[in-house]
Amino acid sequence: MSGFGRGKVILLGEHAVVYGVPALAAGLERGVTATATPAAETELACAPWGTSDGLDADTDLGRALRAVIEAHPDAPLPPVRVEADVALPAGAGLGCSAALGVAVLRALDELAGRAASDAEIAERSMIWERVFHGNPSGLDNTMAAHGGVACFRRGEPLERLDVRAPLRLVIGDSGESSSTRAMVEQVARQRERDAARFDKSLDAIGTLVSNARLALEAGDAHALGQLMDLNQHLLAAWMLSTTALEDMIGAARAAGAKGAKVTGSGGGGCMIALVESEEVGAKVVDAIEALGFAAFQTEAG
Ligand code: PMV
Repeated sequence: MSGFGRGKVILLGEHAVVYGVPALAAGLERGVTATATPAAETELACAPWGTSDGLDADTDLGRALRAVIEAHPDAPLPPVRVEADVALPAGAGLGCSAALGVAVLRALDELAGRAASDAEIAERSMIWERVFHGNPSGLDNTMAAHGGVACFRRGEPLERLDVRAPLRLVIGDSGESSSTRAMVEQVARQRERDAARFDKSLDAIGTLVSNARLALEAGDAHALGQLMDLNQHLLAAWMLSTTALEDMIGAARAAGAKGAKVTGSGGGGCMIALVESEEVGAKVVDAIEALGFAAFQTEAG
């Protein structure tokens, strides 16, 4: 009995989304697959992370598993072993923990003979995300459940966008892992220090996001790339970029990307570059790899 949760990239609007600004996101082909089988004791085995947690384990994985099992509509559930195969880098801004939560929920549901809609799974996985992220906007788990290209606003249903063609992206991984919770808290401290200035940045990101949405719907990659670049400046001003990320972003732009930015929580993790064709994508991948970082090309949405 297995379930799948997708990884995602945030095209524009990360962090601002925590404060009610809409964000644009796209589901990836890669994600997490979880398999649930009846067992003597409940546990979650997550091989690539080298972690295996029982229900009583005092770890985020153990707490998250306990939360979704206790809140399951068919609770109490019989003991179950869940095994997860993670095909995303963790702590890299690609929504790995949310993809794991969605995959686990779907695997549990399948075993319990329950058919839940994507929207129901997105809602029920919010408690999983709270364990990992403290104050999540809900974007990651909603995208992990739905996929596609979408506009997400906190507390509102996901709005799916019709894009002319799938987006071709290069994803570069800095190899530095960062904690989404810590980065969200860092941004919150900047807001506490100077709320008026913070609100101006939020307004600016809101404007970029609404223009990017128009560009996406019109298939205008040039405008979308420029808007991504502008969003990157504002994210860097919130101290979410790193030398490694800046190096990759600069190399991607020099190799012909339409735009490039941090994706997700920043402080490490991944950057994305929008490219027009597979050929340009290959050049961007080469340029990032030449710096010593891992990169891959993918279609999103
Ligand atoms: O780094 P990720 O993939 O977990 O993305 C987090 C996105 C934030 O906007 C930074 C936080 C959130 O809850 O939306």
